[in-house]
Amino acid sequence: MSATRRASRRSAAAASSEKTAEKTSASAAGSIDSVMQETRWIKPEKDGPKHGSIPTAAKLKSMRSKALKNPEAFWEERASELEWFSPWTKVLDWKYPRAKWFTGGKLNVAHNCIDRHLTTWRRNKAAIVWEGEPGDVRTLTYQQLHREVCRCANGLKKLGVKRGDVVAIYMGMIPEAAIAMLACARIGATHNVVFGGFSADALRERIIDSNAVCVITQDAAWRRGSHVMLKEAVDAAVKGLKHVANVLVVRRVGVDITMKKGRDHWWDETLDGMNDSCAAAKLPAEHPLFILYTSGSTGKPKGILHTTGGYLTQATYTSNIVFDLQEDDLYFCTADVGWITGHSYIVYGPLSNGASIFMYEGAPNHPGPDRFWSMIARHRISIFYTAPTAIRAFMKWGDQHPAGHDLSSLRILGTVGEPINPEAWMWYYKHIGGERCPIVDTWWQTETGSIMISPVPNVTPMKPGTATTPLPGIDADVVRRDGTRCKADEGGYLVVKHPWPSMLRNVFGDFQRYKKTYWSEYPPAGDRPAYYFTGDGARRDADGYIWIMGRVDDVVNVSGHRLGTAEIESALVSHARVAEAAVVARPDEIKGNALVAYVTLRGASAKMSGRALEKLAAELRAHVAAEIGHIAKPDDIRFSEALPKTRSGKIMRRLLRELAAGGSISGDTSTLEDFSVLESLREDED
Ligand code: WTA
Repeated sequence: MSATRRASRRSAAAASSEKTAEKTSASAAGSIDSVMQETRWIKPEKDGPKHGSIPTAAKLKSMRSKALKNPEAFWEERASELEWFSPWTKVLDWKYPRAKWFTGGKLNVAHNCIDRHLTTWRRNKAAIVWEGEPGDVRTLTYQQLHREVCRCANGLKKLGVKRGDVVAIYMGMIPEAAIAMLACARIGATHNVVFGGFSADALRERIIDSNAVCVITQDAAWRRGSHVMLKEAVDAAVKGLKHVANVLVVRRVGVDITMKKGRDHWWDETLDGMNDSCAAAKLPAEHPLFILYTSGSTGKPKGILHTTGGYLTQATYTSNIVFDLQEDDLYFCTADVGWITGHSYIVYGPLSNGASIFMYEGAPNHPGPDRFWSMIARHRISIFYTAPTAIRAFMKWGDQHPAGHDLSSLRILGTVGEPINPEAWMWYYKHIGGERCPIVDTWWQTETGSIMISPVPNVTPMKPGTATTPLPGIDADVVRRDGTRCKADEGGYLVVKHPWPSMLRNVFGDFQRYKKTYWSEYPPAGDRPAYYFTGDGARRDADGYIWIMGRVDDVVNVSGHRLGTAEIESALVSHARVAEAAVVARPDEIKGNALVAYVTLRGASAKMSGRALEKLAAELRAHVAAEIGHIAKPDDIRFSEALPKTRSGKIMRRLLRELAAGGSISGDTSTLEDFSVLESLREDED
């Protein structure tokens, strides 16, 4: 890898005046002002590592243009890389806003993720290498995984679970979580994995909404040396729910729990004596594979519904092209199975490719802040996929932790979940990747099911902070409110112009909400097809790279400029003292909105107070003005020890917005990780 054209951010004043000029013509059509200018390139070496499975730049270009011309032929080719029991008769059946892919075809996800590898040498290859938080290690070969999945599938059948039933899975990161998912897939039950960090109330809501008939859980999970009492939460969640007939409980920690007679069953006792084989159900391509709840900006969580054939086609293809999975790789995705990343890029995509996945049970800083680096060194992990929020935490914990371990086995790094600020990207590149590993910044959503925008490692030249370009097969673009295409560097809305196989099919039980949220911003209009609305603001630069500017509801309008708060946050985080920042708007009589920045500080700076903090606030405002322009300068800077986050690590800007506006918190807070953060922010406000 070589870094060229080092940091040449344009002068803020120049950027700002150009933008103002541009805005006059563009804003009537509804664009967003984009002010971040990051122009570093990190280019793959000409003779850098290449694998047969990864296309060259020329091949990538031709794949992309062929796919744009004929998406159905492109996806048909991808689908034929899976094993089907019977072929499809139609590739895409699209009746706005309802999509069906590969209709007529029959397949089974578990068969594709396991059975098809058993006829090859892979049967004795590690499918899952797992490390528990206390340090215990388990390895399951594909053959062993097959046995466990079949036994679990037979166990579920014995409990009366049938094809089409919904099974809730509320577990920590243990192999049985993946086994349970695959067992559901095997018999055609639809799983609803609920993140093990959610409260009993949140779990109950998701069990009720999905009408689950069975819950799979464990006695307790390890987290930072203590126990998360999962079974207790399930007891509270299912209380009085007639539709939940059975609860299957894995013994993980060995704590005392209550087992309700007739309803609760130990996993080991139920599976004991179960047959080692269980025929994989031959399921229609559109059979519901899973429901996964995700929070909208308001209201109750949405049950995102994914189906079988299209989902697996794209999860398989993207795992291969984005992570370049090779037979000798050990691939570690740090997500939890409770999130879409855990579904597509721990379980289904990598296993369908016959890869060896590494799974870790516990906290990244237990027993010390170097846990991940120690595991990478000990297991010789070669691909590492994590989130910007984790990377910023690693930065805060200190460079000495990764430096103390041999990370030379790594060859590809990945990031997902939110825009990665260029400073964090460079840190990741240098301190984890040794300036040797490409970083795949992957943009996608629970709703898209699979990665949509990402570099191809060792092929796509990278720029820190952008997910680069849509993958072949994906027609994503940046448009204005009126649907017209934005010019280069003009901020707008990220849309997808053509259906893709792993797209969500519905919001479970609420088709109107599905239609309204995703397909009503850009309905079909004349010659223009409907565009899928991502809810993200973005800009396409002159090289065609897409820069995510954050959620549209994180877009603020200040003095007539609509600004993506992620860009301002990125500028703040590029200051040496800042660990993390969240920028929100509060109403302002003169400017429409004023910008409020919530900031946490790095290392020793966190102890600053009084005059020193006031000075720092002024310095930070000047820093943002210098980095971006005066229009983006926060009006208030509020220092905080921590920021309110969802359990998946996303900053809950909605709460900060409500705080900044001086109001009370309303709406759904079930995804908030730590309430005390909110309390202390409230006190600061008084
Ligand atoms: C954001 C996670 C910038 C985006 C897979 C999207 C990103 C939302 C990126 C979906 C990225 C995800 N760069 N922003 N590489 N990846 N996002 O449903 O706002 O948890 O709409 O899916 O995360 O979050 P979700």
